Formats: sequence, C-alpha cells, structure tokens
Amino acid sequence: MQTLNEIANSLVTGGKGLLAMDESTGTCNKRFAALGIPETLEARRAYRELILTTPQLGVCISGVILYDETIRQAAKDSTPFLKLISDAGIVAGIKVDKGAKDMAGHAAEKITEGLDGLRERLREYFQMGARFAKWRAVMTINGHGPSWSCTEANADALARYAALCQEAGLVPVVEPELLMAGDHSLARCGEITEKVLRIVFGKLYEQGVALEGMILKPNMVLPGSACLKQESADQVADATMQCLLRSVPAAVPAIMFLSGGQSPELASARLNALNVRSEDHRPWALSFSFGRALQQPALEIWNGDDKNFTAAQQALAYRAKCNGAARRGEYTPEMETK
Ligand code: 13P
Repeated sequence: MQTLNEIANSLVTGGKGLLAMDESTGTCNKRFAALGIPETLEARRAYRELILTTPQLGVCISGVILYDETIRQAAKDSTPFLKLISDAGIVAGIKVDKGAKDMAGHAAEKITEGLDGLRERLREYFQMGARFAKWRAVMTINGHGPSWSCTEANADALARYAALCQEAGLVPVVEPELLMAGDHSLARCGEITEKVLRIVFGKLYEQGVALEGMILKPNMVLPGSACLKQESADQVADATMQCLLRSVPAAVPAIMFLSGGQSPELASARLNALNVRSEDHRPWALSFSFGRALQQPALEIWNGDDKNFTAAQQALAYRAKCNGAARRGEYTPEMETK
C-alpha cells in the first residue's frame, strides 16, 4: 500500500496538479444559474461527465477533487465516474467538509463544519477508492483581519480533520483560504496569510499530523480585488514566497494553490512566476489545485448545450496544459494567443 507521503508526492510529479470539481450542489447551481444552465441533478452529472471524459486529462491533472454527489455518479453509458478517473491515471479525492457556516457571535465570519461522523465518512470514501480529501476554511481580510477566535476555531477544525484523514489512509489537503474580496494591499494579505498559516501549523502539530503526508492548499498572497494597486506577477510571487517560507515547514511535500476568483490567465502567470523565481530555494513542490481557473472557460462554452461538448473539453484541456506549463515554470503569455 502506498504511504501518505507517496500519495502526496504522486499528486505533484510530472508537472501535474489538481482539478477541483467539488462544488457543492448550491455552489454548482449558482455557477449554472449565472449562465442560464438548468440547476438540475442531470445537468450537474452531464457537466461532470464532460470534465471526466476530456481526452488526455491525465497529462496535466494528477488528481480530481469530487463532491459526495459526484463520487457516486456514472457516465451516460453507466461507467462509474470513479472508473473513468482511474482509467485516466488520475487519483480520486473528495471534499469532506460540510461547508462554511455563519459563526455564532461573529458577524460576517464563517466557521467550517463537518467533523461529526467524519471518521465513518472517510472510511467509506477510502473503500470507494479516494486517496485524498479536502477541507476548506474561509476567512476574510477586513480592517482587523479575521478575528482570533475565527482563525483559531477554523485552524483547530482543519487539524482535527487532517488527523482523521491520515488515520483513514487519506492525504489531507488543508485549505485555509483568505478571500481576495476587499481593498486590502498585497502586504496586508501577506501579513494575515502568514499569521493564519502559523496558527494552522501550530494546530497540526498539536493534533499529531504528519507533515510529510499532507498537502497545503493556500491562497496566493494577492492585493484585494478592489485594491487600486495591482502588483505584477513577479511581485505577487515574491510576496507569496516570503510568506510561505516564513510559515510552512519544509517537511510539507507540496503546496497546491487555490485560484480564488483570479482570471485563468492571471492564475497561470502567477503560478509560473512562483516556480521560476523560487527555483533555487523552495523546499516544497508548487502546483495548482484550481477550480474556477481551470473550469470557467469550459463551463461558459458548454453552457448546458451538448453541441458545445467537444469545444468545452478542448478549453478545459487547454487550461490544464497552461497550468501544467506554469507548474514547471514554462508558461508564457503567448500561450494564450494560440
Ligand atoms: P477555486 O480555484 O475556484 O478557488 O476553487 C478551489 C477550491 O477547491 C476552493 O475550495
């Protein structure tokens, strides 16, 4: 049986990264509604089939993160999605948190739920074939940053989730996300991200999580989306590296970034800059675990219509190729004007 460290390393070998397709029913419906796609079980299944039957998906994608609804579904010809995934040489992962809920007594802050019954759910997912899992905590940067109690409670839940995953033989993907929304500066995002990561790694230590058998999925250090000053990809890469070098132990095998609402092109350019500029001093592999930055062009082209199926798959394969190149430090903006 593969060790947790071997599974984690296999997710970042060969210039590959993760495709997050684990939108909850509510989030998936919201994305469909924005494009006028019917918010139905069948539309969600058909879209996920489109993703998983994309030719050559496994060339740049090492693992896919599924949602509970999706891991149990099958293609139109009855092939289980899990079989499509393993036939493509891709590792199946699963989102196991139950979503970010309003935190009592903390206006506008969220706490991620889902620890109750998690041990049993992880056992089932492992038996189904999943080898890694994801839990997302979400925090906002405002005047005072996320509160201590929100940061602490979310970090504690992430660490307890990670320990349960390792007990069940699944690599935990630990995702503490500072949202891009807001007018904060790049420096402020760096300061808060560093603080949150230090707290998360303190909790992981307390819970006995083996760092060699986990993956960190953080936000890049970015200026807020409403900040007037938007730094270059190189500046973002340098700020992100400074933050991560200060807060992420070298024993962690891989850091796989979320895209967080960046445009697909910016996400690729920044990941590329991160790999190019840290080449001689990074202790971990740096790759992607993107949702929107991989899927959005394909979703817009598909638009719920079967006649766009192939064009949508080509768009997804293209974003996977761009991010595979960025993961190796070989992406160029010219790739976007093919
Ligand atoms: P985005 O890349 O769209 O932020 O999604 C990644 C993810 O898995 C969020 O939990």
